[in-house]
Amino acid sequence: MTDAKIPSLLSSLTPIARELDALPAGRPAPAACLMRLNANENPFPLPSIVMRSAIAALERQYLYPEHDNITLREAAAAAYGMSADRVMAGNGSSELLSLIYRALLAPGDSIAMLSPGFSFNRKLASLQGAQFIEVRGNELDSLPIDSFLFGPARHAKFILLANPNNPTGAFVPVAEIERLVAKYDRLVVLDEAYIDFAPENGLHLVNRYSNLLILRTFSKSYATAGIRIGFAFGHPELIGRLRNIQNMFNMNVIGHAVGMSVLSNRRAYDENHNHIKHERQRVSGALSEFGFSVIPSHANFLLARVPAGRDGKWWQSALERQGILVAFFPDDGLEDCIRVSIGTRNQMDAFLEAVDKIRRGADSS
Ligand SMILES: Cc1ncc(COP(=O)(O)O)c(C=O)c1O
Repeated sequence: MTDAKIPSLLSSLTPIARELDALPAGRPAPAACLMRLNANENPFPLPSIVMRSAIAALERQYLYPEHDNITLREAAAAAYGMSADRVMAGNGSSELLSLIYRALLAPGDSIAMLSPGFSFNRKLASLQGAQFIEVRGNELDSLPIDSFLFGPARHAKFILLANPNNPTGAFVPVAEIERLVAKYDRLVVLDEAYIDFAPENGLHLVNRYSNLLILRTFSKSYATAGIRIGFAFGHPELIGRLRNIQNMFNMNVIGHAVGMSVLSNRRAYDENHNHIKHERQRVSGALSEFGFSVIPSHANFLLARVPAGRDGKWWQSALERQGILVAFFPDDGLEDCIRVSIGTRNQMDAFLEAVDKIRRGADSS
């Protein structure tokens, strides 16, 4: 095979695609024996009723899934108290996020996000050739509303907030978000990926404010990260246009079936959510005793500032040598932090044991 045609092939890419480096082959997949506490997954099995719906859906594997996810959208609309024209369904909420960027941003436009925030947004902005404005929040439980309204972010096509935020886990009261939405003329995208672990949600605001779009995912609170189910809720004019540019058959039959079943069995997850909130508290307390400084979290993870002397990267590597993966964010002023997902009691015991061992200098490597 010759590479002679590659230069001319690359020159046919759009300027934005050309600017991006080709991804390397990638790191080898983490060994299956490693404990994954780095992606905020929910490591519990599906409730049996939901599992049965997934298995039954496999018998429809030869059919295309339903066009435009109509039944699933109707079920979500009924479950969340709004009309189906305000709902769209996605192959995970990340699919919906990227549609929003594609629909709203042209090269030269800008988008503003509360920082630190979910870093995937930075990539989505760069794919559109858009400027990514990060608005630093000083308080964990309030918004820098004036910076959004009057700072460099004032020309942004939309503001993106995650509540609870990732990677901090911080939660802003819904009344504070409503203040921003009411004062702002453009779109506010509120990503509620972790909302089922928080005290209140903003979904009722969708019927009140046409400039609010809310994203939800079933990956975190309903343990379906591998099945890919997400929703967006907003004004019918905007939702209808976003649906129009969506890939056909964007979800598969298993995602449809599991989404429907979760929507009618949400109470089956109460124990799961209570467990996570309880473990979050327990792990936070234990980490504090070990000298970490933990940000109060309303999500299924904790962001912890590591004890003085080492940085987050060092702790991440030391934990990996103990068989445990946690997340580290070298940007955003979080070099001295790690983020750990809340999993089963056994996983959390193993995590705390490993932290204690490392802390005592017993890490032999
Ligand atoms: C804030 C936030 N939004 C969206 C997502 C994407 O979730 P999904 O699995 O639905 O694509 C994540 C995943 O980590 C997230 O942290």
